[in-house]
Amino acid sequence: MRKLYIIGIGAGDPEQITVQAIRAMNTVDVFFFMNKGDAKSDLVRLRKEICERYIDQRTYRIVEVTDPERDPSIASYAVRVEAWHQQRAIVYEELIERELGEGDCGAVLVWGDPSLYDSTLRVINHVIERGKVSFDYEVIPGITSVQALAARHKIVLNGIGESVCITTGRQLAAGGLPVDTENVVVMLDGNSSFKGLTDQDVTIYWGAYVGTEKEILLSGKLGEVAEIIERTRREARTSNGWIMDTYLIKKPVLV
Ligand SMILES: C[S@@+](CC[C@H](N)C(=O)[O-])C[C@H]1O[C@@H](n2cnc3c(N)ncnc32)[C@H](O)[C@@H]1O
Repeated sequence: MRKLYIIGIGAGDPEQITVQAIRAMNTVDVFFFMNKGDAKSDLVRLRKEICERYIDQRTYRIVEVTDPERDPSIASYAVRVEAWHQQRAIVYEELIERELGEGDCGAVLVWGDPSLYDSTLRVINHVIERGKVSFDYEVIPGITSVQALAARHKIVLNGIGESVCITTGRQLAAGGLPVDTENVVVMLDGNSSFKGLTDQDVTIYWGAYVGTEKEILLSGKLGEVAEIIERTRREARTSNGWIMDTYLIKKPVLV
């Protein structure tokens, strides 16, 4: 039976990879890399570095494929993403069929952890539902960008007994801060949606490229640091050609 590993590799620091991941990687015949074909090839390079650093035998192969584009003509975000997942499923299906012999082992190296804002597991489920190829698969967890952010700022995400909400820039821009939690982690925010919250008495812990040599960390009362973060973000994105940033917004503790 073919086997596919879905391996979380951490969010940028090659040392934030687990022993379990390294063990699995050493059994892999073929790594599948989805290449976005843009400046984010930095991310592909990191995956290659991880393979070179942690795999003892040089017998593995890397197969790079271009990630299908999302169809901009589909107006609904949810429908557009679902259509994109279906396209990706066809790509994975073909890869598994073409590149993995019976008994071979393949792997997808997932940024951070596969359980958080990543489509790989949904796409693999689509491949299984399509029923054209059969394989076993196993998920190996990784350090998320949220954990990496908290560690670099040396903070606990929640106050004592409080909850934490993880959401997206899109949700924050549409609905503001969730009312039923004190701590909000925001990911996938291409538009610095925190700008809309500067009248609120909250603290922000922001990090870009966390764990990499490009890492930038900023924190403070949102009203005081929002402009600096926005400017820093804009400049870093221009000079690097891409950015990944995450932030925690904390409401004040009420006593
Ligand atoms: C598609 S999601 C992938 C999340 C990933 N699965 C994880 O576990 O962190 C991409 C988002 O993760 C966050 N992210 C990933 N790597 C990051 C890093 N090194 N520094 C800051 N944010 C990061 C950003 O919010 C980015 O928009």
